[in-house]
Amino acid sequence: MIEVQALCKDYGPYRAINNLNFSLKKGDVVGFLGPNGAGKSTTMKIITGFMAPTSGKASVAGFDVFENPIEVKKRIGYLPETPPVYTDMFVKDYLTYVAELKEVKKDKIKTLVDRAIEKTNLGSVQNRLIGHLSKGFRQRVGIAQAIVSDPEVLILDEPTVGLDPKQVAEIRELIQELRGQHTIILSTHILSEVQAVCEKVIIINKGKIVAQDTISNLSKLEKGQSRLFIRLRKDIADLHSVISGIDGILSIDSGASNREWKVDLQGQDETIEAISSRIVSQGLGLLELSPTRMDLEDVFLKLTYGQDKGGES
Ligand SMILES: Nc1ncnc2c1ncn2[C@@H]1O[C@H](COP(=O)(O)OP(=O)(O)O)[C@@H](O)[C@H]1O
Ligand SMILES: [Mg+2]
Repeated sequence: MIEVQALCKDYGPYRAINNLNFSLKKGDVVGFLGPNGAGKSTTMKIITGFMAPTSGKASVAGFDVFENPIEVKKRIGYLPETPPVYTDMFVKDYLTYVAELKEVKKDKIKTLVDRAIEKTNLGSVQNRLIGHLSKGFRQRVGIAQAIVSDPEVLILDEPTVGLDPKQVAEIRELIQELRGQHTIILSTHILSEVQAVCEKVIIINKGKIVAQDTISNLSKLEKGQSRLFIRLRKDIADLHSVISGIDGILSIDSGASNREWKVDLQGQDETIEAISSRIVSQGLGLLELSPTRMDLEDVFLKLTYGQDKGGES
């Protein structure tokens, strides 16, 4: 449904996105995750045909975004990073206007406008001026205009930014409801957002894709590695001295307290056995020793902030 090939964008001498490649199937719900300045909005502006790339290609539903921008825009609902706000229009009139612009058939406009209002809970303000609405309601108007034409593809740039927790929860619920009916890309710099609504994630950092996979695959460690969670009865200052010198240990970290530890290892049974026998022989009170999954948060931090080698940007 969306194909991106070798996409690059330079702002003057600065390369904001560098050789992006990804493809999304119909119905995919994908999180575009990365710290501020990673290049998320730039990529979205290109895919939606609002900005030309410096090089590379993007297509939506088989239409090249620059050869057929009109066909592409008809199939896309886009919430830009700064939602278009026609402050002097009434909510319902504005949504009707957007539906007309998107060439929705005349006899369908009313139904689709009402559906967008209902889905985004705008019923109580549909006859008010957009300029008189709070930030949360304006953001919903932004989402309503993205879905009003019932597009095949939804591109939402940080849909929950600036909203309070209750509004964030509502937007997440809305995205859950929309899944299945649309192919969705949403960008965010907040990991939990992706975990809450997406099946797949593309992680971008400094203009480059550093990972793309399903959430469940990414939360696993690299091949052959595993992590042990260890809980002790005794408080100890440092587990290193207890289990030092055992083959296969990659790292040792303390958990919530000095009774909880996380040990990453190159997964061999002998390593686990050696760790447990050391702990037992020192009488530390081994209460729990279990394999655990690496959190997606660890992966995200490692792939973005952790690999900060200065970059080539
Ligand atoms: N119009 C512009 N002119 C110059 N630099 C820009 C422009 N827009 C974005 N940038 C830069 O490009 C990089 C990527 O920006 P952006 O795509 O907005 O990132 P994100 O949406 O991930 O926060 C940032 O370093 C930003 O400062
Ligand atoms: Mg952005």
